Amino acid sequence: MMEKSQWHPLALSHDVIDAPLAVRLLEQDLVLWRDTSGRAQAFVDRCPHRGARLSLGRVNEGNLECPYHGWQFADNGQCVKVPAVPGFTPPPQHCVKSFNVQEAYGLVWVQLQAPEGADVPLPVFEAEANDQLRKLNCGPYDVAASAPRIIENFLDMSHFGFVHEGWLGSRDATAMAPYQVEPTPTGVKATGCKAVQPQSNLHSTKPAEVEYTYEVTAPYTALLTKIPEEGSSKQGWHEAIGLFICPVTPDTSRVWFRLAVADFESTDAQLQQFQHTIFTQDQPVLESQLPKPLPLDPRAELHSAADRMSSAYRRYLKASGVSFGVC
Ligand code: FES
Ligand code: CO
Repeated sequence: MMEKSQWHPLALSHDVIDAPLAVRLLEQDLVLWRDTSGRAQAFVDRCPHRGARLSLGRVNEGNLECPYHGWQFADNGQCVKVPAVPGFTPPPQHCVKSFNVQEAYGLVWVQLQAPEGADVPLPVFEAEANDQLRKLNCGPYDVAASAPRIIENFLDMSHFGFVHEGWLGSRDATAMAPYQVEPTPTGVKATGCKAVQPQSNLHSTKPAEVEYTYEVTAPYTALLTKIPEEGSSKQGWHEAIGLFICPVTPDTSRVWFRLAVADFESTDAQLQQFQHTIFTQDQPVLESQLPKPLPLDPRAELHSAADRMSSAYRRYLKASGVSFGVC
């Protein structure tokens, strides 16, 4: 499964503290915790002694302590203490499996398996480095839909007039102008995606024509970039939204949005509320879609010319050998 060598988001960084946090990735139970040096750690959530869940334990003296007999595991997974046998020095095979961890975009990312070939980088989110944009996260959302179905929904503008009527679209303007789709080294990209939106953001007072670029940068990561209007004072400020998804099971996912916005006046809660409103309009429809996995056989579902980006996404998943959340 190539997905195991990808980086996946598992939790907000500030939720990973010196207390264990149970999470799930690709049907694997993991425990996240933070060591005394401040580094986030990810272990299999199963004690190698008698199989208890380590996430029920605690962090003690900078080690993860099992809830059952108090064995302690250091940051590399090595058992360093067996309280019932104080003089015992646990050998190297007394260890719990640990995983590579990185923190970026306000999230803790984990890789379950080292890749066979070249290193797999974290998905890129260029707006992160732009100081003129303010960054904040929305989520997590626990969604009863596969990660690819959620990505595809994010790439799809032809549902705006229906699912987001009065917000991102209107029933009076459902026709989609042609847009361009091209493969990239890490995914696919759609440019020139235009729509007239009644309420395109928190501060909209009248409908606006917006132009987006969509980009898939990893199997379960997609970015939306708003192209600033000609002559706008925000020329050059390409606001962006990153959609980062943890594939939990083939049918369920945990979702975060990373907002990079030029709005420094609104509160976090106001910005999050707008995104929340939009996503909770999508969620019931997303959770209703069957089959839950995204069908990669082009004959399995019907398509229109407006679906060029989603078809390109499906081809990319197929070519990449993705098997989780697709059928
Ligand atoms: Fe973990 Fe015994 S089961 S210490
Ligand atoms: Co939507």
